[in-house]
Amino acid sequence: MNRRLAAPVGITGTGECFPPRVVTNADLSKIMETNDEWIRTRTGIRERRWVEPGTGASQLGAPALQMALDNRGLKASELDLILVTTVTPDTLFPATSCRIQAMVGASNAFGFDLNAACSGFLYALTTAASMVAGGAIRRAAVVGVDIMSTIINLEDRATSVLFGDGAGAVIVERVEEGLGILDFEHKVDGSGGKFLYMPAGGSLKPATAETVAAKEHYIHQAGSEVFKNAVREMADNSKLLIDRNGFKGEDLKLFVPHQANIRIMDAAARRLDLDPSRMMVNIDRFANTTTATIPTALHQALGEKRMQKGDLVALAAFGAGFTWGATLLRWAY
Ligand code: UT7
Repeated sequence: MNRRLAAPVGITGTGECFPPRVVTNADLSKIMETNDEWIRTRTGIRERRWVEPGTGASQLGAPALQMALDNRGLKASELDLILVTTVTPDTLFPATSCRIQAMVGASNAFGFDLNAACSGFLYALTTAASMVAGGAIRRAAVVGVDIMSTIINLEDRATSVLFGDGAGAVIVERVEEGLGILDFEHKVDGSGGKFLYMPAGGSLKPATAETVAAKEHYIHQAGSEVFKNAVREMADNSKLLIDRNGFKGEDLKLFVPHQANIRIMDAAARRLDLDPSRMMVNIDRFANTTTATIPTALHQALGEKRMQKGDLVALAAFGAGFTWGATLLRWAY
């Protein structure tokens, strides 16, 4: 059964922010036992952006949101909600959304953070869009931001080469009938949590000198377990949405998958029988920025004129939790 919103709601503006520092595969090969060839062929990544130490999520999130507001021609005071999705908040509390609210001057907005790891943007888009569709609020911003360089262990080469820092933001509003979000499917399987997580720093295992010494404040990932599940669920979920809405892969103008590994993305595209030119790829330049991959890819796709009003677009993600999801929309402007 389709999951329909109560009214047509879609994305009406986008923005992004990346830190200026480019870290290439060659740069990484100087600080760990790795090489450009391995990283490129196993993941599709050539380079990523990393912040200078001392940069928090709000410092990328606020400029991304400001860009989205400017592109839509809105003042920050016209926002009702700022929904930030991140696994690397500035602080555990208060929420990063509160800091971003103050930075952009969104004087009439409330806000909160949502954590669904790499699926966070899709979950937040659905949450914000549902509130707009129901009429509770008029206008929301969703900001996906992660500063992954602060939680990678440079001694773990299989994981640390994968991630980058970045922020993407979108404005969510009512749109014309027939446009905007058509359907979505989101899932969680908590039994997969042990394959991708940060062991310490939460209530279960608060930070101590021992947890720091044991490097438990970094990402721990069982790469091949995550890989297998990501390939299956991202492909299955996207196909499900296309099928149950009576479309074929060829009807998609653009497929925008979470940018975790080009091999996972290619597998999903194959399952959709999609011409590779219809898949948005920016993993080569920005790596996996967790919740920021989809909104930044959307922003760049617009910049490259790869979609326009009325085009059918599918978004898909998989991440820690396990969480996964897909969203089908007709681009609204
Ligand atoms: O966004 C959140 C979701 N995360 C993901 O979707 C990530 C999913 N997982 C992956 O993308 C892949 O599993 C990885 C890219 C992490 C690893 O690729 P793999 O094809 O599963 O490689 P592997 O872990 O099986 O390692 C193969 C070999 C090993 O060497 P041996 O044991 O065969 O001699 C590793 O030690 O590659 C070695 N290796 C590396 N070599 C050079 C692992 N990392 C590196 C490295 N540079 N950075």
